Amino acid sequence: MPALVVVGAQWGDEGKGKTTDILGTRVDYVVKPNGGNNAGHTVVVGGEKYELKLLPAGILSPNVTPVIGNGVVVNLEALFEEIDMLESRGADTSKLRVSADAHLVAPYHQVLDKVTERFLGKRAIGTTGRGIGPAYSDKAGRLGIRVQDLFDESILRQKVEGALKQKNELLVKVYNRRAIITDEIVDYFLSFAERLEPYVADTSRLVNEALDRGELVVMEGGQATMLDVDHGTYPFVTSSNPTAGGACVGAGIGPTRINRVVGIVKAYTTRVGAGPFPTELFDEMGEHLQTKGGEFGVNTGRPRRCGWYDAVVARYAARVNGFTDYVLTKLDVLSELEQIPVCVAYDIDGERVDDMPMTQTGFHHAQPIFEYFDGWQEDITGARTFDDLPKNAQVYVEALEALSGCRISVIGVGPDREQSIVRHDLID
Ligand code: GDP
Ligand code: IMO
Ligand code: MG
Repeated sequence: MPALVVVGAQWGDEGKGKTTDILGTRVDYVVKPNGGNNAGHTVVVGGEKYELKLLPAGILSPNVTPVIGNGVVVNLEALFEEIDMLESRGADTSKLRVSADAHLVAPYHQVLDKVTERFLGKRAIGTTGRGIGPAYSDKAGRLGIRVQDLFDESILRQKVEGALKQKNELLVKVYNRRAIITDEIVDYFLSFAERLEPYVADTSRLVNEALDRGELVVMEGGQATMLDVDHGTYPFVTSSNPTAGGACVGAGIGPTRINRVVGIVKAYTTRVGAGPFPTELFDEMGEHLQTKGGEFGVNTGRPRRCGWYDAVVARYAARVNGFTDYVLTKLDVLSELEQIPVCVAYDIDGERVDDMPMTQTGFHHAQPIFEYFDGWQEDITGARTFDDLPKNAQVYVEALEALSGCRISVIGVGPDREQSIVRHDLID
């Protein structure tokens, strides 16, 4: 059995958590390869709602071994809060494994995230404020603290001292904040060590051995293609690689192990935080999608910006990830509209452009060119086969499929596990 990657095709919150959850009973391992507690996945199981920020959604399936991969930045406070929440609701989290190589989010990363945003003023990214960017900066700058460092106090102290030497210069001299004391940070980290230890593992080895045994491994990406630090709308991005290639790096497996790359795409578009968004709606239609779609962030509670489906973004995501399948979510939110616009290309300074422009300036100038589709008035939340959908909904899905560079294998018609139409099995 193969490895399968789940990737957000837009700006996040497409329904990646629900997708992993649907696969749940047939999956052996679910690995989170990137991001941290900046993510927010809502999964509804039999009417019960679970909100996860750091753990992969696979943790809700008892047969699954959930894994936090080496590419994740882990906030230990958030991790144990989530474990406690799940345990109090009867879930078993004992199978969770956390990579010894994963980096830790320190309290000073959260401070730096917030002061940097304030410093940027009008150019602020609108981050989640969870310290994700500063933690990844330290990883790349070789000043990071890793999970394994908690088990060697003298190494931990040396590393924290080294990091703080630099941070304190910045905090005190540039941002006018108080200096952070090494002991405080060392004690903070050590306070989690005993509880963390049983979860810590060489997760790359675990996952590769599972694949050798023929088990099914799902990599559940956080964030999304357009938030990727290389392929997204830089600088309005997160600081990791949520694209398919990043999943290999962040889980410690080779690309030859992967045989399905599944893009998750909403039937319209949303974005949280700042940055360009060509199909964004500023009128009551945007408010309608926000209300009907429940488009409020799980993580920060911020309202999500809403707009129409952007097929240029979808084609681009299919290209940079090499999607084999799309899961189209939230089709039910579009019911009862007269007409549904779909962005098929951009007008950039008077010229029609069918592909993602090469430069950020081009993307900032992009005006959507819309094609219009007739809506449907029926409630589709009970549909379980493609034929159950009204004709106009079928035409809409088929049009998106033709425009988006990849087949649509699953269609979401509601938040519950059961509310899905499977056209092609994602596992073979
Ligand atoms: P993720 O970050 O990609 O896992 O997505 P989020 O969980 O942040 O946001 C997706 C939201 O849409 C969640 O509240 C899901 O319960 C919900 N959802 C997922 N699929 C569907 C669907 O097909 N229809 C509806 N109405 N809601 C959905
Ligand atoms: P899931 O996994 C939507 C956005 C933030 C901000 C930018 C950088 O639920 O799809 P960061 O805190 O990562 O440095 O913020 O990225 N962002 C998300 N938007 N869904 C997410 O995760 C996101 N994770 C980060 O709003 O614009
Ligand atoms: Mg989310």
